[in-house]
Amino acid sequence: MSQKKDPKDTCVLVTGGAGFIGSHTVVELLQDGYQVVIVDDLSNASEKVVDRIDQIVGEEAAQNLTFYKADVNDREAMEAIFDQNDIDRVIHFAGFKAVGESVSKPIEYYSNNLGNTLTLVDVMRNHGCKDIIFSSSATVYGAPDSLPLTEESPKKPATNPYGWTKWMIEQILTDLHTADPEWNVVLLRYFNPIGAHPSGLMGEDPKGIPNNLLPYVAQVAIGKRECVHVFGNDYNTPDGTGVRDYIHVCDLGTGHAAALKWMNGRTGVEIFNLGTGKGTSVLQIIEAFGKACGKKIPYQIDPRRPGDVDANYADCSKAKREMGWEAKYTIDDMCRDSWNWQSKNPNGFED
Ligand code: UFG
Repeated sequence: MSQKKDPKDTCVLVTGGAGFIGSHTVVELLQDGYQVVIVDDLSNASEKVVDRIDQIVGEEAAQNLTFYKADVNDREAMEAIFDQNDIDRVIHFAGFKAVGESVSKPIEYYSNNLGNTLTLVDVMRNHGCKDIIFSSSATVYGAPDSLPLTEESPKKPATNPYGWTKWMIEQILTDLHTADPEWNVVLLRYFNPIGAHPSGLMGEDPKGIPNNLLPYVAQVAIGKRECVHVFGNDYNTPDGTGVRDYIHVCDLGTGHAAALKWMNGRTGVEIFNLGTGKGTSVLQIIEAFGKACGKKIPYQIDPRRPGDVDANYADCSKAKREMGWEAKYTIDDMCRDSWNWQSKNPNGFED
């Protein structure tokens, strides 16, 4: 049975805690007084993130943070981490996340994302820890029948292995609870996370050519790339370009903190959408980013990208009703913070 505890007495293991969403979540948790253990193999993150987290939260809260460089799929390492720390709950972010790459490397994606989850929950079970928050995605809704998307909207077949791993891990965790009702599972379905910490100390640091819109726009703004390629302007949307529900990564951080608080002392499986409830088009993003950085962002219209849907945005009323959480930041705030991070750290976490 999940035990009700104060944050100061609660130790939270955050897998992938050095990554984009993980690091912003860790900041929130430390500021809320939790003890936090990060496990990250740094395959797509920098160890410098840990120093930046310390800088943001200050010396006192930083003492509650422990970092392990380890692969979640390394059973021995995970057993040792659970032996050394009295872990109460887990937030599981660690996983490969590039949609396009997942199509060409299905074995790697399934074995990493599913394999590390199975190792993690088995080690958790061995240590009597049955509380988990999983980093899922709106991708499980596929092409929506109607908008906004509620947690009851049907899951659709995924269009790529990355999406399938999110889909399947949701199922695995649900089955765990069916087998043993003491499990306490929260599935958080994020819409499109963007922005950066307002301090300019942390943000998204994609390797190579960014797949996602915002980091691409930011690199055009800084002069690293020539122009934004807008993937299609013949969608069934007001200006013809794709519409998404962009959410500030700090709002996702508070969303996880709210979920941790909400799940305290419960059991079950619960799903929450984390978005803003508002749709924004590609052209509106380009316009807003131009305003944030004070220059016009050049763009050209290209063909559609396979697998993209016209529009998706969330109904977030359940998260508000149940957890008292809602997103606070606007698109202008997201572009401002993203630009602040990009302009202060043109090479991300590299010197
Ligand atoms: N887009 C462009 N040009 C680019 C990149 C994207 O026009 O260079 C457009 C896309 O066509 C889409 C919008 O910008 O209309 C957003 O695209 P992103 O790649 O930024 O985000 P997606 O909505 O495709 O995917 C995101 C996450 C996935 C997640 C999915 C869930 O990256 O991990 O949301 O809906 F699965």
